[in-house]
Amino acid sequence: MTGPGGSDMPASADLTTSGPQAHDAPYEPVFVPGSERRAELDVLLARYPTKMAALLPALWIIQHERGWVSDAGMAEVAEVLELTPAYVKGVVTFYTMYHQHPVGRNFIQVCTTTPCNICGAEDIVRALLEQTGCAELGATSPDGRFTVVESECLGACGFATPLMINERFVESVTLEKIPALLAECD
Ligand code: FES
Repeated sequence: MTGPGGSDMPASADLTTSGPQAHDAPYEPVFVPGSERRAELDVLLARYPTKMAALLPALWIIQHERGWVSDAGMAEVAEVLELTPAYVKGVVTFYTMYHQHPVGRNFIQVCTTTPCNICGAEDIVRALLEQTGCAELGATSPDGRFTVVESECLGACGFATPLMINERFVESVTLEKIPALLAECD
């Protein structure tokens, strides 16, 4: 599967995690020798000519496992791929698809670019914030279920309002559809 930003997203990276690891939780390495994730990484490494080429999918694995990519996660990736932590951080901070802090189990991105905006995207955002309990854009709901953010064009301008819930793409979202949509989320 090709992920956002053209990354080669590993099969495990559906981002429906058991919940993000808290900021202050001790970091548990993901690519432990003998582990399933290490085996997954080894498959990726065999596919590419250099270890560096596996950086984006390796970061997807970290995010899938931990819910976000912490500095410790970046350091682990840097070590296994023989890169500098600064290089890995540069890549993580370049792409918006990697979370640099814990987010809700359901990460909702709503297109609010002009075509969707004039079709009512801001009303959708407002309703999502109200019904998820998120205090503001980018904040996580108290129950840890949701984070809502605005996004640039999602490529479905004729189907306002489109949004993504983790890796699930939903188009033509209306105010009436929101309660059922949120009820489907874990
Ligand atoms: S402007 Fe909203 S999907 Fe393109």
